[in-house]
Amino acid sequence: MATHSKNVGHEALSETPLCHLNDIPDGEGKGFVLPGRNAELDIFLIRKGAQVFGYVNSCPHAWTPLDWSPDRFTNMEKTHILCGTHGAVFDIESGLCTAGPCNGDRLTPFPVVVVDGVVYPENDGS
Ligand code: FES
Repeated sequence: MATHSKNVGHEALSETPLCHLNDIPDGEGKGFVLPGRNAELDIFLIRKGAQVFGYVNSCPHAWTPLDWSPDRFTNMEKTHILCGTHGAVFDIESGLCTAGPCNGDRLTPFPVVVVDGVVYPENDGS
């Protein structure tokens, strides 16, 4: 699974945490712009209880950011990720689009782990 909460050895973690679990209201999201080798990477996290799911902030329909205002990534019921551009609906756990113009496509995962209530990018060893 690409996005999840689990206990891992410290060698699997980036040293720089993204945030604390409690920085993300349950059922809501938080966006981040991360420095990269060639360009910044726009990502977002969605909290569901003690779990956090991370994705690249780019909708597979027209490749625009999903948030319709800062840190607003979910529908009113907080049950799904909602693209603010044309209204595509995505499953929080899998990133699969279940309704809208990119139905059947997926968000690009940004794997994260939660250790002792702190959210870290998962280091893929590259
Ligand atoms: S860009 Fe997301 S639904 Fe069109």
